[in-house]
Amino acid sequence: MSQISIAIDGPAAAGKSTIAKRVAKKLQFLYIDTGAMYRAVTLYVLEHGDKIIENISEHIDITFGINDEVYLNGTDVSKEIRSPEVTNSVSRVSAIGEVRSYLVDMQRKISRTDSVVMDGRDIGTTVLPDAEVKIFMQASPEVRAKRRLLEETARGNTIDLQTLTDEIIRRDQIDSTREISPLVQADDAILLDTSYLSIEEAEDKIIQLVEDKL
Ligand code: C5P
Repeated sequence: MSQISIAIDGPAAAGKSTIAKRVAKKLQFLYIDTGAMYRAVTLYVLEHGDKIIENISEHIDITFGINDEVYLNGTDVSKEIRSPEVTNSVSRVSAIGEVRSYLVDMQRKISRTDSVVMDGRDIGTTVLPDAEVKIFMQASPEVRAKRRLLEETARGNTIDLQTLTDEIIRRDQIDSTREISPLVQADDAILLDTSYLSIEEAEDKIIQLVEDKL
């Protein structure tokens, strides 16, 4: 059978990566966290300056480990890419055309050789417009901020709910108003509001959608 692609898009902290990872594991597909790729580029840009973007392919190589670790030029940066500095700059760097075309090419290449569950902002609209299943995952800003608070606390970080709410709203605003492939629900994507769903319920819904399609 040829490769199958599942695209999961949506705003920050809607539950995409948690659920996408579980769906990928269940279906034995490759999980690709495209947000992590934009974060890795942002980390490199913060360390080396915007100028490197002109010939980005000569500077940046991104790969994933078997436990979804993110490698930037061979170094595991899974922790560093979640820092507040990276989070605060990632939407600015992600709006740059050269950054997007470099990463979109890389993402499409992966989907040619493997069945994937890919999550991000532009997967169903731009990266994999022919994906077999497209989900647009939503949740209320309050629920999303609370989820981020739990994540940050689990990482040992102290941060207040209002700061996280502001960060999420600001990031969504930049991501959905940028010129190149903004965050928008694809016409043929199914809206999944996870505000009142457990992780298992959201996972089951997606698996059901995939089974219905195949
Ligand atoms: O998914 P995550 O919240 O880690 O994504 C971080 C940022 O990367 C987003 O806020 C957005 O600016 C950018 N991004 C993007 N396109 C994608 C995935 C992420 O522009 N496909």
